[in-house]
Amino acid sequence: MTSEEIIHLDRRNLWHPFTPNSLWLDPSFTPISIASGEGPWLISTDGKRYLDGNSSIWTNLHGHRHPKINQAIRHQLDQIAHSSFLGLTHEPAVRLAEELLRYVQPAREETPGLRRVFFSDDGSTAMEAGLKMILQSFAQSGQNQRTQFLSPDGAYHGDTVGAMSLGHRDSFHRHFRPVLFPTKKVMAPSCYRCPYNRAKPENADARSYRKCNFECATLAEESIHQAGDRLAAWVLEPRVQGAAGMVMHPHGYAARTSAAARKVGARVLFDEVLTGFGRIGSPLACHAENTLPDVLALAKGLTGGYLPLAATLATEEIFQSFGGDPSRTFFHGHSYTANPLGCAAASASLDLLQSPSEIIQQKRLIQNLTTLATSFWTHRHVGDVRQEGAILAIELVADRTSRSPFSSEKRVGARVCQTAREFGLITRPVGDVLVLLPPYCTHPDELEKMVSALHQAIARELGP
Ligand SMILES: Cc1ncc(COP(=O)(O)O)c(C=O)c1O
Repeated sequence: MTSEEIIHLDRRNLWHPFTPNSLWLDPSFTPISIASGEGPWLISTDGKRYLDGNSSIWTNLHGHRHPKINQAIRHQLDQIAHSSFLGLTHEPAVRLAEELLRYVQPAREETPGLRRVFFSDDGSTAMEAGLKMILQSFAQSGQNQRTQFLSPDGAYHGDTVGAMSLGHRDSFHRHFRPVLFPTKKVMAPSCYRCPYNRAKPENADARSYRKCNFECATLAEESIHQAGDRLAAWVLEPRVQGAAGMVMHPHGYAARTSAAARKVGARVLFDEVLTGFGRIGSPLACHAENTLPDVLALAKGLTGGYLPLAATLATEEIFQSFGGDPSRTFFHGHSYTANPLGCAAASASLDLLQSPSEIIQQKRLIQNLTTLATSFWTHRHVGDVRQEGAILAIELVADRTSRSPFSSEKRVGARVCQTAREFGLITRPVGDVLVLLPPYCTHPDELEKMVSALHQAIARELGP
């Protein structure tokens, strides 16, 4: 099919996620149809090449069409594509669980920690499984009263009803509030927009010059303490809240607040759907915070960004609370749980992640990103430039001195990213926060091209 034919049929039959219909169907807007990929490049049906600046919505780790992952999927396809995981098992799942547990906890034989892997399909289902595990586990351990969940403002854990309930993104969730179960929130640990940060804006990551007494952590600790023995779990995207606007936490926040949750006997549920698999520079954000949760949700990069597969890891204590009478079964699962193709891709991806050459590549990418990030301060509408590992966020503001945002109707972030396509870059903003989150294989020259495309797009939309 030609590009025109694809777009015509798409507009006639399809419905896209997180996409305003009016914009998608606007004749003055031309959607891009992707035909293939190669490393960090996406190639359109009409032959244009674009750099994949957000790793295909934060999923791709090693680039597109990686020979090792392709080979692992092909090899598995020659055995079987899928069989049920209800009452059956298979080698790809068993192998992956073993590798995943070792990746999460290299010294697991010596220490207690995450010991069980429950597979599902995506980030939302990983979180849904996690919250249900926690509730049922408490109910089966004589603590029925533990039904409260607490998480930071702006939290996003996916679009299923349970995952939405744990989140605090009103623009996404407001229509569903009447059917969501009530949860509580604390202020987001966002240094750039923190009412307790007395520092004047500087040309640096707001976390590096913050003047405060770490009130965000103290307030969270107080809320956790108040919830006491009614708290089921403290739920956190450690280090980076992606959909909140790549809000990057002051280091130590996850560790302090998790310790507070443990003190009141609650579970710690980490959502590392975005931060997992090296994205913030360490294997997982919980490693950087030196704090293992009781339940850990992984998805997006689990398969290297090739196939939908997710995992919820839990402690042995939680697993054991489902033992005994069959009525204590975890009545939860999906038709495609532990899909063998997904498991094979994930094993290949984990292997790559730990190979010396990939580790060097990833370190180089992070360093180059740090160097290039400073260039964004030349734009007067850049208010904050923050980086955590291989994630770079550039927050656009109407006024740098007062940190005042643009009105949301202007859709400044979306316009800049749309224009960036003309300069060969595909990425997606979160509100007015521009995001660069490239595959680890991105070459220094390609990274420079991504940064240059963003500069040109900002200049076109907001002036030099
Ligand atoms: C932190 C976090 N959790 C959960 C999700 C939901 O994942 P999925 O879209 O795979 O359901 C996302 C998606 O962006 C996310 O960023």
